Amino acid sequence: MKDLRHELTDARLAELLECDDDKFAPYAAAARDTLIAHVGDKCYLRALIEIGNVCAKDCLYCGIRRSNRHAVRYMLDDDAIVSAVRASLAAGYRSIVLQGGEQCSDSFTLRIERLLDKISRLTPDGGPAVTLSLGEQSLSTYMRWREAGARRYLLRIESSSRHLYSRIHPHDPLHSFDRRLEALMSLREADYQVGTGVMIGLPGQTAEHLAADIRFMQQMDIDMCGMGPYLEHRHTPLYGLRHTLVPPAERLRLSLRMVALLRLVMPDINIAATTALQAIDSHAREEALRMGANVIMPNMTPQQAKARYALYENKPLCETPAGTMPLCGRICDTGLVAAPEDDGTSRHYYERKSHEPTATR
Ligand code: 5AD
Repeated sequence: MKDLRHELTDARLAELLECDDDKFAPYAAAARDTLIAHVGDKCYLRALIEIGNVCAKDCLYCGIRRSNRHAVRYMLDDDAIVSAVRASLAAGYRSIVLQGGEQCSDSFTLRIERLLDKISRLTPDGGPAVTLSLGEQSLSTYMRWREAGARRYLLRIESSSRHLYSRIHPHDPLHSFDRRLEALMSLREADYQVGTGVMIGLPGQTAEHLAADIRFMQQMDIDMCGMGPYLEHRHTPLYGLRHTLVPPAERLRLSLRMVALLRLVMPDINIAATTALQAIDSHAREEALRMGANVIMPNMTPQQAKARYALYENKPLCETPAGTMPLCGRICDTGLVAAPEDDGTSRHYYERKSHEPTATR
C-alpha cells in the first residue's frame, strides 16, 4: 500500500477537504486500509459516563457554559458513578470514559482520586481502563489522577488556530490558548495516553484551518483523537452566528474527511467516531468507522442525567444500557470487529514509549 504521508502537504490536505466526493473516494479507502495495516480491524468500545455538567468555563459554543442559566445542573455522586461503571462492566465493556464540566479545586482533585481508587477495586484485575475528560488541570492534579489509575485523558484543543480559538472563547486567563497547550504538555509529562481534537464547521473556520488542525495533532504526537462537527446551541453566544455556518450535511462531510485524512497522517493512533456525528445522521458513526475511525463511545450515563449533559442541541439519547449486542452488530456491518473486552491501548502510545529512554518509562 502506498504511503501517502509525503504527498499530504497542508495545501493538499485543504484541497482534499473540499474536493468532489469522487476524487476523495480513493483517500477514504486508503484510510481504511491504513487502519487495518497499522492497528488492525478491531473497533474498541468505551462506555461514556457524563459525571456532571457543573462547569467553571464559559466557552461561547457550549451548552453547559457557566453563564447558561437554562442548563439544569447536576453532579452524580460516587455511588451513582460506581453504579454506572458496574452497569458498563455488566454490559461487557472493559474501558470507560469519565467526562464532565471543568472544576478546579483541591476537593475536586481529591474526590476524583478517591473515585478512581474505588473503580480500580471493582474487578480483581484492577477495574476497567479509565479515560478522563475533565478539562484543564495542574500537572500535579494530572499526576495524582494518573497514579490513582487513570490511563488516558481527552482534552480537545477545539481549534489549533490561536485566532479562531480566541473567537470562540472569552478573553480571560481561564480561557487561554497557551494554558490549553500547557495542559496538553502536562498530560504527556504525566504519562497519559493523550487525546485531543477539534470542532469542525465552526463559524469562520476554513479548510486551511482544518488542515492546520491535522498538522497540529501530528506535531503534538497525540495518541488518540476525538473530533466532530460543531453543532449550535440556542443558549450560547455563538448561536448568533448560525447564519454564517455551512449546512449540517457539509459539516458532517468535512468531519468524515478529517477522520480519513488524520488516519493517513497518523496511521497508528486511536480515532473516535464521535456522538456529535450521530447527532447529524444516525448512521454517521458507522460511516466514520468505514473511513479510518476505530473507537466508539456508547453513552452509559444514567438516563435522567444524559439529557442534562447538553453540549449542543439534538444530542442522541436513545442508546440504553441494553448490552453491547446491538452496537456490536452495527460495528460488524462496517467490516470491523467489535472488541468490547479489549482495553484498546493506542498502538501509537506503545510505539513512542518503546523509543523513550528507560529511565522515564
Ligand atoms: N458542538 C459540538 N461540540 C461541542 N463541544 C462543546 N460544545 C459543542 C458544540 N456546541 C465539544 C467540545 C468539548 C467536548 C467535550 O464537546 O469540543 O471539548
